Amino acid sequence: MPPEKHPGRTPRLLDAAFGRPRGPAGTVGGGLMARFNASQERWAVDRAALRPGERVLVVGPGPGVGLAPAVAAVEPGGRVIAVDPSATMRRAAIRRCAAQIAAGTLRVDDGTAERTGCPDAAVDAVLSVNNVMLWDRPAGFRELLRVLRPGGRMVLTVHRHVLGFPPERLVTEATGAGFGGVELTLRDRRVLGPAVQLLLHHPGR
Ligand SMILES: C[S@@+](CC[C@H](N)C(=O)[O-])C[C@H]1O[C@@H](n2cnc3c(N)ncnc32)[C@H](O)[C@@H]1O
Repeated sequence: MPPEKHPGRTPRLLDAAFGRPRGPAGTVGGGLMARFNASQERWAVDRAALRPGERVLVVGPGPGVGLAPAVAAVEPGGRVIAVDPSATMRRAAIRRCAAQIAAGTLRVDDGTAERTGCPDAAVDAVLSVNNVMLWDRPAGFRELLRVLRPGGRMVLTVHRHVLGFPPERLVTEATGAGFGGVELTLRDRRVLGPAVQLLLHHPGR
């Protein structure tokens, strides 16, 4: 397999805008992500087929454009927790989703895929859009499997051009962490190029 581009080699400005958004570059990056990734965020919510009453973990929501649709899909009775390590992005998401937070249906916490802060088997579904290339993936997949309830599902999508390694590697890594029923697809898009899409299941019942 071709070698993986190491996240540490991402140019500093791109990392500050999109990878670990911070400062003015992070604010600009957050605005661009909110505009250009909204349909991908909505796709992940739709693909997860969320139901009223479900509990959902959203990993790396960035500016948070996918959070309101996720909350709407689990109402009434459901709850969404979002974790992102960037304070700049958490502030943007909290501003954007003030109504849902005030209603108690959404929480936005400091965390990562590798360290969610959630108890075991706490959620029915996990969503991840455009952040898997930033994780320590073996640790991230293990952690997300831990917090999913048996039989729960995860939907992960990422722009092909930012992944930096063959998408098939995600299948090997997720399976190695214990996920079952892993389905990989590539979806062609007109403007941004293909989107890598992964559906994963907790193997328990
Ligand atoms: C490229 S942005 C994507 C944001 C949004 N989901 C979108 O598609 O527009 C990557 C986001 O992942 C977050 N992130 C960085 N490292 C992470 C990790 N290890 N686990 C989860 N999220 C992480 C960043 O802070 C940033 O908000």
